[in-house]
Amino acid sequence: MSEVNSGANSRREFMAKSALAGVALPHVHAAENNTVQIALIGCGGRGTGAAVDALQVKTGPMKVVSMADIVPAKLNDNLDKLKTQFPNQVDVPPERRALGFEAYKQAMDCLKRGDVVILATPPVFRWVHFRYAIEKGLHVFMEKAISVDGPTTRRMIELGEQARQKNLKVGVGLMVRHCRGRMALLERIRGGQIGDIIAMRAYRMGRAGGTAPRKPDNISEVMYQVQRFHAFLWGSGGVFNDYNIHQIDECCWMKGEWPVEAHGIGARHYRRDSLDQNFDTYSIEYTYSDGTKLFFGGRYIPGCREEFASYAHGTKGSAVISTFMHTPGIPRIYKGHVIPRVENKTELHKAQDPNAAWTYPQPEVSPYQLEWDDLMDAIRNDKPYNEVSTRCSTTRMSSLQT
Ligand SMILES: NC(=O)c1ccc[n+]([C@@H]2O[C@H](COP(=O)([O-])OP(=O)(O)OC[C@H]3O[C@@H](n4cnc5c(N)ncnc54)[C@H](O)[C@@H]3O)[C@@H](O)[C@H]2O)c1
Repeated sequence: MSEVNSGANSRREFMAKSALAGVALPHVHAAENNTVQIALIGCGGRGTGAAVDALQVKTGPMKVVSMADIVPAKLNDNLDKLKTQFPNQVDVPPERRALGFEAYKQAMDCLKRGDVVILATPPVFRWVHFRYAIEKGLHVFMEKAISVDGPTTRRMIELGEQARQKNLKVGVGLMVRHCRGRMALLERIRGGQIGDIIAMRAYRMGRAGGTAPRKPDNISEVMYQVQRFHAFLWGSGGVFNDYNIHQIDECCWMKGEWPVEAHGIGARHYRRDSLDQNFDTYSIEYTYSDGTKLFFGGRYIPGCREEFASYAHGTKGSAVISTFMHTPGIPRIYKGHVIPRVENKTELHKAQDPNAAWTYPQPEVSPYQLEWDDLMDAIRNDKPYNEVSTRCSTTRMSSLQT
């Protein structure tokens, strides 16, 4: 099986018995009292969201015990939010709140081997924090993107292998791969319901993203760029890597292959005096080894038509992989190639198209929750679980690394 489909992604793999059970690797398990403790590194929007998802896993007790950030307000405000929502599952006294660029160590030092750390800072720090987590014997949930360029991707591949050898479980936030609806679609595509895939299309077209207004006088250049990480290639790989990675990944997953060639164009006209390093339009033609294509279009210009979707076209029909944004995916199959276009959330009803040959039953469980359910199932039941290498391959496609 190609690496594009490796990792804990298919139903078959979920069901598979642990291939590592009984081999010489040490079994790193949760704390004796069965509570898995969590350290949150990077307490912004997604880090806090990931902590919320973690605390809602039903298979055993979970508790947030330490937090780290470089901005006091981010840590304090989001700690308050977590405490309000989960008063009995958040216990982060002042001595377990760490600030600064070394804070990640202090937060992870509060955990025991077999606990879980959430890495949700800008991607540039991922390998540094991941390396320390491996040293400490911690399971990891890390947000995508997991690297910003070729050297950091190679470093992450090596670290992912070290984690595998230590039997540490590693989840990476390309959550769509955990969506049960998309899994059901993949089974149907594999079963030949749309025939051979001959073309794929994916769009991420929305309002402005990754812009950077002039630096305020009261912060350093580094703090400014880290906080505007989407604007700077060293911090994130830019919006192309950080935003578009999802659509490119889900298309390659459905195709069952990574592209062998990419031909891209982009342009920058409408960003006014923003200091960022992004383009505002991207168009990439990816070619798979059988000569078939994936056409990707990204646009970040306010006031233009919006679309946030991906599609596969085959010799016997077509499929919608994502309808508008990540969830609900409303995956479905059409007999022909005429697919209603959904341009914003209020048009989601168009997905209930009578011409669809199959639609995944609604409502769907959020894949952000499912990725945590799957990671914790692997941790508590010692199943193989390491998403690093597959997600590094995705990052190579979404940042066009050779
Ligand atoms: N899977 C998804 O759908 C999804 C959605 C949004 C963001 N993300 C990813 O999550 C990550 C974080 O994005 P976000 O939207 O939460 O950004 P954010 O700016 O809201 O949060 C990042 C946090 O990390 C902190 N931080 C920065 N450098 C740090 C360091 N060295 N040590 C400790 N803390 C540090 C910042 O102060 C901030 O609080 C990114 O990699 C992003 O791509 C994924």
